[in-house]
Amino acid sequence: MIVNTELEYKGNLFPSKIVSYSKDVDTLYFKTDNDVVLELTVVRDSVLRFRFTTTGNFENDFSYAITKYASRGYNKLEIEEQEEVYKVTTSKLICEISKLDLRVSLFDAIDGSLINEDELGFHWEESYEFGGNIVKMSKASHDGESYFGLGDKPAKLNLKGKRFENWVTDSYAYGKNTDPIYKTIPFYTALHNKKAYGIFFDNTFRSFFDFANERRNVTSFWAQGGEMNYYFIYGPQMSDVVANYTDLTGKPHQLPPLWALGFHQCKWSYYPESKVKEITQKFRELRIPCDAIYLDIDYMDGFRCFTWNKDYFPDPKRMVKELSDDGFKTVVIIDPGIKIDMEYSVFKEALDKDYFCKRADGPYMKGKVWPGECYFPDFTNPEVREWWSGLFKELVEDIGVKGVWNDMNEPAVMEVPNKTFPNDVRHDYDGNPCSHRKAHNIYGMQMARATYQGLKKYSYPKRPFVITRAAYSGTQRYTSTWTGDNVATWEHLWIANIQAQRMAMSGFSFAGSDIGGFAEQPQGELFTRWIQLGVFHPFCRVHSSGDHGDQEPWAFDEDVTDIVRKFIELRYQLLPYLYTTFWQYVEEGIPMLKSLMLFDQEDVHTHYRNDEFIFGEKILVCPILEQNARGRRMFVPRGKWFNFWTNEIVNGGKEMWVDADIDSMPIFVKEGAIIPKYPVQQYVDEKEIDQVVLDVYYKEGKEDSLFYDDAHDGYDYIKGRYSFRTFKLTGKPNQLIIQQHKEGKFTANYQQFLVKFHGLPFKVSSIQIDNVDIPLANVKMNGDNSMIVDKDFTQLHLVGE
Ligand code: GLC
Repeated sequence: MIVNTELEYKGNLFPSKIVSYSKDVDTLYFKTDNDVVLELTVVRDSVLRFRFTTTGNFENDFSYAITKYASRGYNKLEIEEQEEVYKVTTSKLICEISKLDLRVSLFDAIDGSLINEDELGFHWEESYEFGGNIVKMSKASHDGESYFGLGDKPAKLNLKGKRFENWVTDSYAYGKNTDPIYKTIPFYTALHNKKAYGIFFDNTFRSFFDFANERRNVTSFWAQGGEMNYYFIYGPQMSDVVANYTDLTGKPHQLPPLWALGFHQCKWSYYPESKVKEITQKFRELRIPCDAIYLDIDYMDGFRCFTWNKDYFPDPKRMVKELSDDGFKTVVIIDPGIKIDMEYSVFKEALDKDYFCKRADGPYMKGKVWPGECYFPDFTNPEVREWWSGLFKELVEDIGVKGVWNDMNEPAVMEVPNKTFPNDVRHDYDGNPCSHRKAHNIYGMQMARATYQGLKKYSYPKRPFVITRAAYSGTQRYTSTWTGDNVATWEHLWIANIQAQRMAMSGFSFAGSDIGGFAEQPQGELFTRWIQLGVFHPFCRVHSSGDHGDQEPWAFDEDVTDIVRKFIELRYQLLPYLYTTFWQYVEEGIPMLKSLMLFDQEDVHTHYRNDEFIFGEKILVCPILEQNARGRRMFVPRGKWFNFWTNEIVNGGKEMWVDADIDSMPIFVKEGAIIPKYPVQQYVDEKEIDQVVLDVYYKEGKEDSLFYDDAHDGYDYIKGRYSFRTFKLTGKPNQLIIQQHKEGKFTANYQQFLVKFHGLPFKVSSIQIDNVDIPLANVKMNGDNSMIVDKDFTQLHLVGE
C-alpha cells in the first residue's frame, strides 16, 4: 500500500517558475516551465478553487460532490502582476501566487491579515504502482490554530496533532480513534486568530489529512491519485465557512417529511408480522411516541432485495397499511449486493442489461454479503441508477413503504481482507471510466442517490425519506445517515455525541447514532442517557443487533420507560423548533447542531470543548456521559442562559456544575429565545393542533427567533404554502415587546399561541396587543405567566408596575 511517508521524501516533485498567465472570465491559469498548471477559479468572493495538473493538461472536470445549484459570482476580481507574485483580489480575499514556485498565500481583503499560506504547497510523487501521481499539498500551521470537521471521525472534535485517512469502510464495533470508518468527507475548518477558513479537498481517491502531526508547523493533505483539487473557503465566521461548504456540496433537496424527525424504532430484525405488531402496539399502549418502524434484512426472501419472505410477511401491503393506520411509517433495508440466482428477476434483469460491476480483466465482481455470493450494480452509471430507482415502484407506490435504509454500501464484502472490492474493479463514473480506487469512496453515495430518486418518484406527492451508511461529501443532498455499527458502551455514547456534531459541521446535519448501541447490550442507565442525547440529534432511532437482548424503551425497568417517554415526549414538543432548524439548514446550509467553537469562536475556551453543543440556535445541551452521575461539570458559553428545568438564570463564559439526576440532563435556553412547541402526540399529525405554545425567555435587550411551519409533507411549501414567522423580542427593565413578522401562504389549523413567559423581572400591569389595550382580566394572564394570543398578532407589549 502506498502511504505518504514523509514530506521530505526525495522523490517529491515541485512546480518550477511561472512562465505564462492567462484568464478566462472567472478562471486564471498559471503555467510553469515544467508543465504544471494551476487553474484558479473565483467561485465567490470568499470561495476560491485551486486545481493543479503536472502535464499541462487537465482531466475532464467532473465531481459528484459539487452541486449544480452551488452559488457562483463575485463582487470584485482584480489581478495584478507584481515583481514576485500575481495578486488576485476579491472583496473578501487577497490571493498571492509566487512566480518562483506557485506557492499560494491568502489574506483577508479587509484588514490584510494572513489567513493561510502554503508551506511546500503543491507537490507530487510519481507512483510506479498505478502509473500516476500521488498529489500532495502542505500548508503552514500556526501555534494556536485548530482544525475541525472531516465527517464521522470518532476522535476529539479538535483534530490538531492527528492524522486521518479517508477510505469508506465497514467498521463493525469501531472504537474511539478508529480510522477510517464509514464516511469520507474531506473537508475541514481551521480557526486561527479568531478567524475561520475551510478547505474542501474534492478528490475521491484514498486520501489523508495530517494536522500538524508529522511536523508541528505543517498541515497537509494528499491522495493516491486524481488531481490536487481543493476549495478554499473563507469565513471569517466558522458558521459561514460551513454554510458555504454546504452551498457548494448541496443542501438537502427538500425538507424531510416531519414524521422523519419523530422517534424511530429499529432492530435486526423484527419479524414475523406478529412481532412487528406487538412492538408497535406496545408503543401505543405505553403512550411512548413513535413514528417509524424498521424492517431489517429478514423481511426479504433469502436476503434478495425487493422481495418478501412470505412466511413471515404473507401480505406486506395489508400490514404496511395497518401500521400506517396506527401512525407507523414502515422503513425497509435495501443493500447493494444482488444474490446470484438466475431465478431472481432483479438479478436476471441486471445481468441481461449488463449493469453489474466487473473486474478489469473481464469477469463480474463477485463477493459475499448476507445472501451469499452476489454481484453489485454499478451505481456510478446513470442508466443503472435509473433502473435501480424503478425497482422501488412496487415497494413504495404499491405496498406503501415510506422510507428506505441503504446499508453495506461502502461497499462491504464479507470474508475478504480488505472488506470491499479489489482496486481493479471498473466503474462508469458517469462517463469517466475509472477503477475502484477512484470510485470506492462515492459508491455508497451513488447508491443512496439512486434510491432517493426512486423514493422521490414513487412517494410523490409526499416527500422521500432515505438513510445511508456510507457517504462522500454531497450525500446530504439525498439522504439522512447513521453512524454505523457502534457498541453499547459509555465510550460509544461519547463517540455518538462527537459524530453527530462533527457531521453537522461537515455539512451533513441529518445524522444520528444507533441509540443504545448496536452491538452488545446496554444497562438501563446507559440506554436512558443515550435517549437523552439522541432526542437532540436530527435523526433519532433506536437500533440494535438483536442477538444480545431487547432494546425497546420498555426492555429495562419501569423507571427507564418513564424517563425515556419523558424525553421522547420532549422531542415531540420541540418538533416545530426542530423543523424550523431543519428549514434553516435546507435554506441556508446552517448546521443544525453547533459545537461550541461554531457557536462562539471568539472565545478560545470553546476550541477544545467536545461535549456541549447548541441544538438549533437557542438550546444548549450537554449529555451525561458517565455512569452513576448526578450531574456534571460543563462549559456554558458566554451570555445568559435559563436552566430548562428550573428557570434559574446562569451567566456563561465558564465551566460550572449542573445537577442532572438520571431523569434529567443539562439543558439551557438562551435568554431572549422564543421556542415554539407542539402538544405531545403519539406520532406526527396524530392530532389537529389547535394551539402552539411559545415559550418566551425574557432578556434585557434584543433577540430574534424563528418559527417555520407548513403542511409537514408534500411540496406545496415550495410554491409558497409555508408560514415563516420572525419574532423580535425587546426587553427593558419593566417592559417586554414581541413583534411578529409573517411570510408565506400557509394557513395552519391553530388560531392561537399560548405564550408562556419565563423570567419576567416585573409583575405585568398592562398589556397591549397590536396597540390596543387589553384589560388584564380578559387575557387570562394565568398564574404561571401565560396568556393566549391570536397567532397573527403583530405586536405584544407587556408593561410592568
Ligand atoms: C449492518 C448494519 C446494521 C444492520 C445489519 C443487518 O451491520 O450496519 O445496521 O442491522 O447490517 O442488516
